[in-house]
Amino acid sequence: MEYAAKSGSPEKQRVACVIVGVFEHRRLSDAAETLDKASGGVLGGILRRGDMDGKPEQTLLLHNLPNTLCDRVLLVGCGKEREFDDARYRQASRAALRALRRSGARDVTTYLTELPVRGRDLAWKVRETVVACEELRYRFHAPKEEDGPDTRLRNLTVGVESRRDLDEAEATLLTAQATTAGTLLARHLGNLPPNVCTPSYLADQALALAADDPAITVQILETADMEALGMGALLSVARGSRQPPKLIVLEYGAKTHKNRPVVLVGKGVTFDSGGISLKPGAAMDEMKFDMCGAASVLGTFKAVSQLKLPIHLVGIIPSSENLPDGNASKPGDIVTSMSGKTIEILNTDAEGRLLLCDALTYAKRYEPQVIIDIATLTGACVIALGSHASGLFSNDSALAKALLAAGEVTGDRAWQMPLWPEYQKQLDSNFADMANIGGREAGSVTAACFLWRFVEDQRWAHLDIAGTAWKSGKDKGATGRPVPLLVEYLRQQVA
Ligand code: BES
Ligand code: MN
Ligand code: ZN
Repeated sequence: MEYAAKSGSPEKQRVACVIVGVFEHRRLSDAAETLDKASGGVLGGILRRGDMDGKPEQTLLLHNLPNTLCDRVLLVGCGKEREFDDARYRQASRAALRALRRSGARDVTTYLTELPVRGRDLAWKVRETVVACEELRYRFHAPKEEDGPDTRLRNLTVGVESRRDLDEAEATLLTAQATTAGTLLARHLGNLPPNVCTPSYLADQALALAADDPAITVQILETADMEALGMGALLSVARGSRQPPKLIVLEYGAKTHKNRPVVLVGKGVTFDSGGISLKPGAAMDEMKFDMCGAASVLGTFKAVSQLKLPIHLVGIIPSSENLPDGNASKPGDIVTSMSGKTIEILNTDAEGRLLLCDALTYAKRYEPQVIIDIATLTGACVIALGSHASGLFSNDSALAKALLAAGEVTGDRAWQMPLWPEYQKQLDSNFADMANIGGREAGSVTAACFLWRFVEDQRWAHLDIAGTAWKSGKDKGATGRPVPLLVEYLRQQVA
């Protein structure tokens, strides 16, 4: 798929299709108005006959509009002009692209990017256009025959009002393409079945990223390496599995950027049955998505590499299955983490924090300027925030603010939850330094508090993506979140 930006009048575009907006009731956008004038009032006439009112999601495809150089004009309903906001813009771009899919058009120029959206700039509109297009093109390549990109679209051009906007639009197209490439990698890995996407498979994916870009190096730590490091918490999770656990370490930009890195840590549980504290059967298949934190780290590396961002980035992915077995950990087991702190495992289903605590301790050797961990950590976070916002916890308010802002611009939003020492006592254990669960109250906060004990006063944020990393039901599938948030945050560090 090729993207471009262009300034110029819609009637002069020699393309298969030109997309223009129509507001309620039958109010032409500027670009539609221009086409109407060029064609001698044909558009206005069609609207007056009642074929289209401009309601959201309405579309009307016209062929051979007089005095235009394009084969088709697609009118897209945008709703009431004064209500045209983020959501309406997204809705209109998606409706337009869906309608196009049913046509044979291979190249299009969209003028939706010229419509004013309250509080949003050109870059935002351009990015949303690319995201909408790539999302519609993406179909999970699975053992299902009919899958595969199902659009004939090959070129999409965004119309901008003046030549002065071209540079910004073109730069945004590149950023948006890299971000969607990363997001789609994360979605793809998340969607893979758990008999394919194992810890070894994730390790191979990291190696593949390194093979594509000399700026990335990868190191895979095996069981024996982790034993030598004393990662008793991480290794306890893998005891019940026949698949060997992996600690996947990626590094980007180390040769050129000597500054302290941003470290991303992603939970990579490729299947979470709960272990001996077995989960109920309903929807257990969705626990293949428990590696979406890991997938978001790999996706972010892909985007950063494609953008050639001038940063130093480290990714650490502790990966394992969590299964019941004669050799699996049991409730009551006590393990010693790499930090030396002991943990009483009261519930083997709280395995994410056991993996992450050792990965966070390992992160210290990079002397990070910031650590961000990303994990499908708690069902409680889904209860608190649903599927719209990821839960954000941080011991650093500037970092929290930057992550929230990155979520806001990209629409990949997070919402800050409390990280207060008052919650820590819920993790008290009679037999070890701490228990791995903190009881029914504030489950996502106590999980964050558990991790906090291993980062102490380093600048750190934790994103609980249990509600945002995948969708259930009819649209079941990984979302690729929070790759857009992370890439935007890293871009802002450079700017
Ligand atoms: N991977 C799950 C969290 C999860 C559950 C994400 C449901 C999305 C949907 C995690 O490993 C887990 O099982 N957490 C437990 C923690 C509890 C035992 C303290 C949970 O949330 O029930
Ligand atoms: Mn679990
Ligand atoms: Zn889990």
